[in-house]
Amino acid sequence: MNILIIGRGGREHAIAWKAAQSPLVSKLFIAPGNEGMRHLGQVPVELVNINENASDDLVAFALEHHIDLTIVGPEAALINGIANRFAEAGLAIFAPTREAARIEGSKQFAKDLMQKYQIPTASFRTFSQYEEAKQYLQETGAPIVIKYDGIAAGKGVVVAMTMEEADQALQDMLLDHNFGEGKVLMEAYLEGPEFSLLTLVNGRQVVPLVIAQDHKRAYDGDKGPNTGGMGAYSPVPVIPQAQIDWAIEHIMQATANAMVEEGCPFTGILYGGLMLTAQGPKVIEFNARFGDPETEVVLPKMKSDLVQHIVDLLDHKPVTPAFYEEAFLGVVMATKGYPGKYGKGFPIRHLDLVKQTVFHMGTTLKDGEYVTNGGRVLFVVGKGHTLAEAQKDAYEGVNMIECPELFYRNDIGWQAIKKA
Ligand code: AMP
Ligand code: GLY
Repeated sequence: MNILIIGRGGREHAIAWKAAQSPLVSKLFIAPGNEGMRHLGQVPVELVNINENASDDLVAFALEHHIDLTIVGPEAALINGIANRFAEAGLAIFAPTREAARIEGSKQFAKDLMQKYQIPTASFRTFSQYEEAKQYLQETGAPIVIKYDGIAAGKGVVVAMTMEEADQALQDMLLDHNFGEGKVLMEAYLEGPEFSLLTLVNGRQVVPLVIAQDHKRAYDGDKGPNTGGMGAYSPVPVIPQAQIDWAIEHIMQATANAMVEEGCPFTGILYGGLMLTAQGPKVIEFNARFGDPETEVVLPKMKSDLVQHIVDLLDHKPVTPAFYEEAFLGVVMATKGYPGKYGKGFPIRHLDLVKQTVFHMGTTLKDGEYVTNGGRVLFVVGKGHTLAEAQKDAYEGVNMIECPELFYRNDIGWQAIKKA
């Protein structure tokens, strides 16, 4: 099979790396990909110089190169309807339609769906006027969570511990329109450990993968600004299997069924960002795609053939993935300044000495040498019999890499490892 992967980050590197292990795959195309993805074992790889969002060009490319299956990473392409375009052209794509991707693209849509189908989530109200939102804030008090309804690159969520913080967020979103003209959701503050549950979905068929935990804050001890994610690990021992099973049935399966009922069946990765509260698992958010960096530990943990699973799922055949027993833990190396302003083009040395798996999140080649080319740059994956061993392994890899302009968290997995 010829496979096309759309995207350019660590997530797409992990998908490509995993797909390259499948005996079904004869050639991999990645649009646009990055230079770190060129060598994936025996399978030939071609980087295609087409932007993720250029769906006309991507469709034309897929037709011309006889692409048998396309897998999409980034949400913007999904929300813009890339799956609709591929389907219209008769091309197989593992991705939700524009209508189904609303589960990520519109928080209002996701919340209304959960309310209608009794899928557990924080209670909420929606506002488009600052004065009304302010009044509601005065009634409820803090802590409270304020979310911009739309895509805001992870910055549209403010967990406000005080009235002042909450008011500031409302002013930013509803008076200054810092993210756009959208509405805001004001949501009850929930507490408990978070976990990411990725499922392969086609209509009512839901295939759960192993859960992972992400680390959203930039610095050690969960301090600093929110980021796209600074590390991840799997398994997540603080979440009991019985709670995972409950979430698979009452959250993920229930949501897939609800999407069918609503006339927008979901195909692709349905990602539940869940919190284990005192009342059981609740939804923090849904994503319509592979999580980044969760994918970079979940796919290494997968023993069975991802491409075979997707082919079977699209054929409505039963799918039973298998996973390694080992623990996997990965550390993001990011450019100093991230998630704010950062420079590019800093040389990265000794990557060839690292024996651990390294996924390239944002690198490029300059004069034959890897240099940084983004905020999140590398993802180093460790493994071991325990999470503590996997952590040690990951940091051994990190410590080999020489690039003074990179920083990373020293405590990925700390909650799990401390408790173990
Ligand atoms: P989101 O972009 O919706 O995933 O939110 C980003 C982060 O904000 C989540 O990973 C949580 O840590 C936090 N968060 C979001 N909603 C809530 C909530 N209702 N209660 C507490 N924390 C939340
Ligand atoms: N790691 C969180 C996300 O992919 O949205």
